[in-house]
Amino acid sequence: MKVAVTGANGMLGGEAVAQLAGRHEVLALGFGPGRPPAPDGTYRWVEADLGDGVSVERALMEFGAQAVLHAGAVTDVDGCEKEPATAWKVNCGGTEQVARACRALGARLVAVSTDYVFDGACGPYGEDDLPNPRGVYAQSKMAGEWAALSIAPDCAVARVAVVYSGRATARPTFATQVVEKLGRGEVVKAFDDQFTSTTLAASGAAMCLELLLEHVYKGVLHVSDETVMDRVDFAKRVARRFGLKGAIEGVRTASVKLAAPRPLKGGLKVSRARGMLKNKPLAIDEALDRFRREWARSWSA
Ligand SMILES: NC(=O)c1ccc[n+]([C@@H]2O[C@H](COP(=O)([O-])OP(=O)(O)OC[C@H]3O[C@@H](n4cnc5c(N)ncnc54)[C@H](OP(=O)(O)O)[C@@H]3O)[C@@H](O)[C@H]2O)c1
Repeated sequence: MKVAVTGANGMLGGEAVAQLAGRHEVLALGFGPGRPPAPDGTYRWVEADLGDGVSVERALMEFGAQAVLHAGAVTDVDGCEKEPATAWKVNCGGTEQVARACRALGARLVAVSTDYVFDGACGPYGEDDLPNPRGVYAQSKMAGEWAALSIAPDCAVARVAVVYSGRATARPTFATQVVEKLGRGEVVKAFDDQFTSTTLAASGAAMCLELLLEHVYKGVLHVSDETVMDRVDFAKRVARRFGLKGAIEGVRTASVKLAAPRPLKGGLKVSRARGMLKNKPLAIDEALDRFRREWARSWSA
């Protein structure tokens, strides 16, 4: 099958390409300097801007995609407040481009979205709970969800939260910073009043791809890890899994000047995905075991 992945330089998109390569004809769409074409030809890498209104749509049409995992987005939530026009062009306009191409091609679409569509007043949230996005990132992603669902008839939206990965190519995240800081003997500061789910990129990608290629489900599905916890708890669990000792200090969100609002009582309920998918949402300790193995492989390579 011809499968395209946007955000292919990113954590979730990169994982998806790795899982698809060799099993399908894969078009990997990225933006920045990007990865070189796969030496063994298991996928083709193309640079295309989700924010320019045309180039991703054109690339998908030329490829003749039969299924698209749309994982590209501007993900820096504070950066989105500073550059709202880019956030809207990429997160909403880019999703429109992808959805238009999918409609024209009759292709199945899974668009990746975020727990930030909820305001965090009373999480964790199920798929049928009412979103109330606050801030530019959250609102532009919510608009992207609507665009995908209304333009592409065969579409599912897969929401994830706090993505992390131990792969060498993945960008730094809170989880990798915990490992690095504690490893250097530095204090880790973490919000003790932000309750959230997390998503190991490999697991989230596997659930998204199963949803894309093996199901006809339409609408929203939550595909994060299973456990909801505050960030201090998450940091402590990471430390325990890596056998790291050191200070992890709780900080109140309101004590730090952040450009974008943060959901406090957030988190995603994943019982629907657990009931429906072969790739189940992972409990946090299982996810962190896999994260540690990815990390070990990255450092031994
Ligand atoms: N990261 C999180 O904690 C988190 C939480 C909830 C939901 N999500 C959602 O999960 C999905 C996957 O994100 P991720 O975690 O894999 O984040 P990521 O590592 O930041 O990946 C996002 C990718 O989007 C690409 N991108 C940004 N601007 C683009 C543009 N103008 N044109 C084309 N591509 C562009 C980036 O490409 P380059 O690298 O080439 O610049 C980047 O690799 C996104 O939909 C995101 O909103 C993420």
